[in-house]
Amino acid sequence: MKPVEIVKGVYNVGVIDWNIRDFHGYSTEIGTTYNAYLIVDEQVVLIDTVKKEFADQLLANIAEIVDPKKIDIVISNHTEMDHSGGLPRVMHYIGESKPLYCSKMGHKNLAQHFGQIFNYQAVENGQELSIGSRTLAFLETRMLHWPDSMFTYSKSEQILFSSDAFGQHYAGYEMFDDAVGDAIMPHAKKYFANILLLYSPKILKLVEQVAEMGLEIKVICPDHGIIWRKDPGKIINAYVEWSKQEPAKKAIIIYDTMWKSTKLMAEAIADGIAETGVAVKPIHIRSSHRSEIMTEVLDARAIVVGSPTLNNGLFPSVSDVLTYMKGLRPKNKIGASFGSYGWSGESVKLINAELEAMKFDMIDSGLKIQYVPDKEGLSDCRAYGRKIGEAVAGQ
Ligand code: FEO
Repeated sequence: MKPVEIVKGVYNVGVIDWNIRDFHGYSTEIGTTYNAYLIVDEQVVLIDTVKKEFADQLLANIAEIVDPKKIDIVISNHTEMDHSGGLPRVMHYIGESKPLYCSKMGHKNLAQHFGQIFNYQAVENGQELSIGSRTLAFLETRMLHWPDSMFTYSKSEQILFSSDAFGQHYAGYEMFDDAVGDAIMPHAKKYFANILLLYSPKILKLVEQVAEMGLEIKVICPDHGIIWRKDPGKIINAYVEWSKQEPAKKAIIIYDTMWKSTKLMAEAIADGIAETGVAVKPIHIRSSHRSEIMTEVLDARAIVVGSPTLNNGLFPSVSDVLTYMKGLRPKNKIGASFGSYGWSGESVKLINAELEAMKFDMIDSGLKIQYVPDKEGLSDCRAYGRKIGEAVAGQ
């Protein structure tokens, strides 16, 4: 990808990772980008780098605009290695004594990755830095989504360099929201559901804080995906809505199955929910990636989980999804459980324990059927579905 000028003197010099399909457990089916930003002013500033293996490509992109050795200042908004893996290569190339600005936690975390080998300049929240005609301000965003995370704001152009926030795992030559349109929103939603959901309360506070500060934002430059220049308010509003976690009248049924009995139960429960007029989607875990499932969880009111009993426990794929979901702390959910079993039948109890740990309002103690659901069993499943649907409809 060639560098692109965003406004005069400000460039995206990042790279496209077309081939990544698994981003630490998140399915990136069309790849992603690692955006890095170059500001050419009296001082030349680089904001963030890229993954280690793309560092030379980053330097080549910078060289299209300015000799990378002319970079005076590097800013690290975030320590995670998709943005800092390239730092040693870049710092070595431009000169390791050049100042490297980061948050206090960034200093600590970068030093834990690379040692005290750089000229770290830890900044305070709100601290400003003049780079010539522009003034940059640093805004600490601790735990959005790492302790070191911060934003950098160019006051003159009202550009927010937002690190991971407002990003999407989207690879393409289209670099701006106006080029992609609404097609970008499912990618942004999936990114929120899988990376930022557990920090929802902090996001709501941050948006309030930014409004109180009267910070105008004309352009948002995240570290992944497209840049928001036509309508940055659209993604900010979407973040506020998603963070509120006010679910739709929707149920999802997440299940796995050994010999299709739990599948039969799942689909009969779905039929029962649909009878109540509530939107419902049965999702077979081994046909859907956990990160896709989590995107469906984001706005669902009822999370219905089914598992056969295997070796006195949960089916491993069900444990995987429940562990992943629990870490992301979804709120305002109704929980329900079901499963087929042969002789011991622990799965439903184990699902309940997981959903209760997530503080879901449980419908009841769940529905178990031995071996294969017969006509009466399927009728029980449909009745169970209606019970769930009525609870969602009456929310
Ligand atoms: Fe894109 Fe938290 O790194």
